[in-house]
Amino acid sequence: MKKKQILESARGKVKNCRICNDCNGVACRSEIPGLGGIGSGSSFIRNREIMKKVKLNMNVLTMNSPISTKCHIFETELDMPVFVAPLANVRGNYGCDLSDYEYNKIVLAACKKENVLAFTGDGVDIEEFFEKPVQAIHDNDGFGIVTMKPWVKEGVDRRIEFLKDKKYKLLAMDVDSAGLPLLKGNDILVETKDPISLRYIKEKTGKKFIVKGVMNIQGALAALEAKADAIVVSNHGGRVLDDSLSPIEVLSTISSVVKGRMTILVDGGIRSGNDIFKCLALGADGVLIGRPCGLAAIGSGEEGLASLLNEYKKELAQAMKMTGCHKITDISRECVTVTK
Ligand SMILES: Cc1cc2nc3c(=O)[nH]c(=O)nc-3n(C[C@H](O)[C@H](O)[C@H](O)COP(=O)(O)O)c2cc1C
Repeated sequence: MKKKQILESARGKVKNCRICNDCNGVACRSEIPGLGGIGSGSSFIRNREIMKKVKLNMNVLTMNSPISTKCHIFETELDMPVFVAPLANVRGNYGCDLSDYEYNKIVLAACKKENVLAFTGDGVDIEEFFEKPVQAIHDNDGFGIVTMKPWVKEGVDRRIEFLKDKKYKLLAMDVDSAGLPLLKGNDILVETKDPISLRYIKEKTGKKFIVKGVMNIQGALAALEAKADAIVVSNHGGRVLDDSLSPIEVLSTISSVVKGRMTILVDGGIRSGNDIFKCLALGADGVLIGRPCGLAAIGSGEEGLASLLNEYKKELAQAMKMTGCHKITDISRECVTVTK
């Protein structure tokens, strides 16, 4: 299946998505629940706009040797440095018929097939949005990353207790969800997290720990202090703070400070192999892709998402070929130009 066809096949199955040619946050601006960005929607829109300003530097005067997108992240050999981002409450947000359990089953199976990793999400209904998706990872031989929202201690402890006898590879916390409007009015609240409360989670679970939602150097250093193994440079797809910068424009600065000391992932507005390439060139070790992966999984199931991931891989390999990169570690800052 081709990319357009994969996304088109979601038509009729998702009430809240217009399935635009460029998933850029314009048609759905302000729609939360839904797929838009918060407030005016400017943060989601900016994520795409800035991405388009990064250009690839063509260089084909190189050896004609094979291209490999394979990489080694989190002690795992993956077919490419791409992760499916956590998406919670797909029924409410996409306006589809799937539960989060059914959705995550599809995503995990597709990722296993393509040998990439997926994150599950979290939300107010602990059973529906956290426990069942975690069970899906457990049933997938633990090949998946659990994500927990930044609940106050009571909420964190409940989830850690549930995780005790579950198989999963890593644990993430989307600390930026402290600003998520959908979590307001709940009995157990979310809060901003400091390094001590983050380190508590890592120590309690004994798992490698990812802090998702870092947008500046201080945040990256706080994650280091918390002994986090990785960060995701992310503004939650523009859903938590209006008028925020885009992750791609803060990536290089953050990377210049913490590269090599922790794994750096990034997300927000990544829609193609070229976009993946741009993020790697600007200092990321890997990327997460959200909305289009959700659409593919909902629209055409395991096969659709596996095909979309495969398309990304082919596009990434083509971008590498045209810029003189034969392996992922060849991709460097010199491979792109950031235009005004
Ligand atoms: C409908 C929806 C639900 C989301 N749920 C979660 C979640 O539960 N946990 C989380 O860390 N991020 C969540 N996110 C943010 C994504 O993981 C990711 O950061 C963002 O979508 C990336 O941008 P992109 O969709 O433009 O690729 C959600 C995003 C959307 C659109």
